[in-house]
Amino acid sequence: MLMQTKVNIVEVGPRDGLQNEKAILPTATKIEFIQRLLASGLRIIEATSFVSPKWIPQMTDHMEVAKLLPQDPFAQFPVLVPNEKGLDNAIACGVKEIAVFAAASETFSKKNINRTISESLADYGPLIERAIKAGLNVRGYVSCTLGCPYEGKVPVKQVAYVAQALSAAGCYQISLGDTIGVGTPKAALEMVKAVAIDIPIQELAVHFHDTYGQALANIVPCLEFGIRTIDSSVAGLGGCPYAVGATGNVATEEVIYLLHGMGFETGVDLDKLIDAGEFICQQLQQVNRSKVATAIIANRK
Ligand code: HMG
Ligand code: MG
Repeated sequence: MLMQTKVNIVEVGPRDGLQNEKAILPTATKIEFIQRLLASGLRIIEATSFVSPKWIPQMTDHMEVAKLLPQDPFAQFPVLVPNEKGLDNAIACGVKEIAVFAAASETFSKKNINRTISESLADYGPLIERAIKAGLNVRGYVSCTLGCPYEGKVPVKQVAYVAQALSAAGCYQISLGDTIGVGTPKAALEMVKAVAIDIPIQELAVHFHDTYGQALANIVPCLEFGIRTIDSSVAGLGGCPYAVGATGNVATEEVIYLLHGMGFETGVDLDKLIDAGEFICQQLQQVNRSKVATAIIANRK
């Protein structure tokens, strides 16, 4: 059997990476950030969230961002949508792809979207149907797949149930989020395997936060099992305001370095990606959290 060597990266920096940042960036800076990510060869860039500005102030300009996105027929710019109002606005802005987000933990679901798991799944059903009828692609997230900041351990059966519900509702891909970055490789693989009983592996993605430094270690067994879509955030930016203490996503630079080292293709130019990471860190006045970026920049000097 020929091993599929292409891995798709879903760059979540402009959304997950920025949503927890206190300093509100100008819309033009966000667009330049997205353009630089695109120039590095990334083709799937999560651009913003059509959520309530009261809940996530950094994403208040979601309509402006969506309207100013680069016109590239080969790129995808999914946006987060939590409800019908978000979908109305996304369609009005010409968005072509949305991502809905549910959780495997009841308390996190209430804290994050003010709905229980079953309320969220009941609402997402017709929303996904309407989006698909309007010609949009819909991705689905499941949060807290390896632990919850409020409930601790989350049963894999619950993860599989929520993932299957989103998949059956029409999501073309389900991204499995370790929102608080507590997972370790064996647990990550067991969780992915449990979800893959019902959903084909090519319709699954992994989304690891690196809070406990385990993200890259978790990715390796998932790749070996057949996962070919990985979410990551340049410079390791990221975090969720409703998961206190959770830090950034796995850095895209780390993922690209790992994948190229293992013989996978990504289409991403690591040097250009590092430049995009440096750009956004300067705008945020933050230190780059990617070890790969730090090492390569040191060698450039
Ligand atoms: P709610 O308060 O229950 O909603 O929030 P509501 O319908 O009662 O509306 C409250 C106000 O928000 C109203 O404004 C609405 O108009 C407005 P007011 O009348 O008071 O002036 N509103 C909106 N405005 C713009 N766009 C909208 C929208 N909806 C309502 N779409 C709601 C419910 C879902 C809106 C809220 O809880 C919310 O926005 N939550 C988003 C939280 C979020 O973005 N979290 C981070 C993303 S998830 C994540 O990071 C995890 C992930 O990365 C995977 C992983 O790591 O595991 C994906
Ligand atoms: Mg996340």
